[in-house]
Amino acid sequence: MHLLFSAEEDDAALEEELALSWPEAVARRIRRGVFSFEQGDLENSAAIPLVFARQLAANATPIIAASVRSWAEQTSEAILGKLADDQAWRMHVVPHYDSPANTTAGRRRCQLIDAAIQSELKARRRRLWRQRCDASTPWTTCESFVQVVLASPGAGWLSLAPAPLPFVLRRMVWPFPKGEIPVASDPAPPSRAFAKLIEAEVRSGACIGSGEHCVDLGASPGSWTYVALARGAKVTAVDRSPLRADLMRHAELRFVRGDAFTFIPDQPVDWLLCDVIAAPERSIDLLLSWLRRGLTRRFVVTIKFKGRRDYAQLDRLKSELARLTADWFVIRLCANKNEACAFGAAS
Ligand SMILES: C[S@@+](CC[C@H](N)C(=O)[O-])C[C@H]1O[C@@H](n2cnc3c(N)ncnc32)[C@H](O)[C@@H]1O
Repeated sequence: MHLLFSAEEDDAALEEELALSWPEAVARRIRRGVFSFEQGDLENSAAIPLVFARQLAANATPIIAASVRSWAEQTSEAILGKLADDQAWRMHVVPHYDSPANTTAGRRRCQLIDAAIQSELKARRRRLWRQRCDASTPWTTCESFVQVVLASPGAGWLSLAPAPLPFVLRRMVWPFPKGEIPVASDPAPPSRAFAKLIEAEVRSGACIGSGEHCVDLGASPGSWTYVALARGAKVTAVDRSPLRADLMRHAELRFVRGDAFTFIPDQPVDWLLCDVIAAPERSIDLLLSWLRRGLTRRFVVTIKFKGRRDYAQLDRLKSELARLTADWFVIRLCANKNEACAFGAAS
């Protein structure tokens, strides 16, 4: 069995996406924000990534454990049975309780379980215990991933994805607990939209670099541009309205007052950044056209939804990105509202 976790508010959207894009998985909602499925070609499905899923727990088995010790024993037994001593691995022990009021207690229990698993492994297989790393950098092909999810103090699931599965499924299996990243906050940029760009950078493991050239379409009031300039990049910002005054005076900013949909750079750039408010098909077409013409090396593009009917556009986006890029992701970011984000690297 495999499990998919959605953000709390995306439960219905994920159910719809599964029915529309991946009916052959025959996924079933087993509780709030959790869907299970048995079939489905995980490694080759064109439905993947599911935009409204935050985390995938592959090869999950239910666990009943009356005590912290019992959680630790069952998990350690599974890890010892599956992972070799020289195997690099990561582990998340997380609560997914129905009642948010109990989640704080759940987190505390998860910390105790995590510590108990560590002592058990340390005592029984010190070499394997030493291979654990809980970085949140993108997966490498040699890392395995253990997820312990508590649905209540005494029941939940254990998922063990041996290498290279986490890397192969990196569009769905995230190295952040439950696939979630705290939304960045900083009063210095002109709007909170900057958190979307930061999250896309963290998820892809690729940051805008010093000296790189970014085109920021729909840039005003300028928080994506702010991030790019702060990283030492130069920015061509395109909008009908100017950016915040200090950004307009920045030596590395070129402002173009005009239409994001007709702007073409003189030469290929390092980053296409696009956060234009537009119908989803327009933003998707813009991104695909930049990729087909080889106009950018990397991209971060917001796809805004007006209603649920817009979700149908996502399958076209996914299949074209699979054809046109070296690496790509489409997900509703923690920092997104009624929108999703496509990001990645051109081929
Ligand atoms: C959500 S805001 C962008 C916020 C920006 N990323 C930031 O971080 O500050 C969308 C912007 O798209 C611009 N916009 C909408 N349609 C446009 C078009 N056809 N051409 C240029 N800009 C457009 C709007 O003027 C608005 O400033």
